[in-house]
Amino acid sequence: MSVYVLGIETSCDETSCAIVKDGREVIANTIYSQIDIHTEYGGVVPEIASRAHIEKISYVVDKTLNDANMTFNDIDCIAVTYGPGLVGALLCGVSYAKSLAYGLNMPLIKVHHIKGHIGANYISHKELEPPFLCLVVSGGHSHIVEVKDYDEFKIVAQTRDDAAGEAFDKIGRVMGLPYPGGAKIDKLSYEGDKYAVSFPQVTFKDCYDFSFSGVKTAVINYLHRIEQNGVDVLNADNHEIILNEFLNGNGVKQNKKELSKADIVASFTEAVTEILSENTVKYAVEKKYKTVAIAGGVAANTHLRRKLTEKCEKHGIKFLYPEPILCTDNAAMIAAMGYYSYLKKDFADINLNAVPYESIEK
Ligand code: KG4
Ligand code: ZN
Repeated sequence: MSVYVLGIETSCDETSCAIVKDGREVIANTIYSQIDIHTEYGGVVPEIASRAHIEKISYVVDKTLNDANMTFNDIDCIAVTYGPGLVGALLCGVSYAKSLAYGLNMPLIKVHHIKGHIGANYISHKELEPPFLCLVVSGGHSHIVEVKDYDEFKIVAQTRDDAAGEAFDKIGRVMGLPYPGGAKIDKLSYEGDKYAVSFPQVTFKDCYDFSFSGVKTAVINYLHRIEQNGVDVLNADNHEIILNEFLNGNGVKQNKKELSKADIVASFTEAVTEILSENTVKYAVEKKYKTVAIAGGVAANTHLRRKLTEKCEKHGIKFLYPEPILCTDNAAMIAAMGYYSYLKKDFADINLNAVPYESIEK
């Protein structure tokens, strides 16, 4: 008999509900994005996020059941993101899910947000089974993870400072692009020269950890130098020439060149995506992984996908990525992972609480 999991996700700025069949097939997936509300502030405002979740959650759950042409009688269990994330936002989903499970006398399942991101790959690739290697890149995480089983994960590399998504958003902000910057930088990078400026790509001896604060600072310093020449970078058009000489990442003059915001954005994207893809594939080769997947909001980045496709192909490694709608925060990925807990009867009780920080290894 098929198992239908109703998933709920409210960890940050998306209110989402989905119904997934047998962990692999999305029956309905509703995502209400709060981005328009937060754009005005240049980032997510936690209290506003919580209030918006409360306002929308019932609507989102009802719509999902309607879209699926189902009622609660057709659902086998409720899965919810309990962490990591914004505690107030998480509490909205957790409280709602607990009420549903209690009222409907159904099992309640807690799902770790990052494990959910990884689980998005099970929906997009029906044949995928652990073990595989996964690069998890979101607004708050940059991990290389060994997915040993559906419920067993090992972090083998991680960022020492900023997450990749955080760096994208920060650079978006200093470039005058609306929040969140990641997707806009992705698109604008096609219109610039990725070799215009060589920004630092940090590597560590004897491990595959990341560090993005250096490249972020290098871009910001670079822009400051341009601004010192009287250029209003924030308000400049994306293709307007903002610099008439070519400086390298350390601000050293190399030769004459015209540079636009698009060139700087493309060069930044090149630095970040090169290091993410290079470290991941090097680790996969070293440990003889046959399959590499990506997950999280930054997994939608088309430059990163292209680089991973090319590098994996070179080493005969299969490379998988979820469809873009499943990279961003969504409840389908939560329901997909919830299914595997359901099979093991790994149920949460009514005391379930929201947890803002929790390792994926737990
Ligand atoms: O996974 P996610 O939706 O939320 C978290 O769990 O953090 O990730 C959001 C992050 C944001 O930083 C956003 O700018 C980034 O993912 N992002 C992208 C792209 N689409 C979203 N970054 C780079 N390129 C993209 N196409
Ligand atoms: Zn996320």
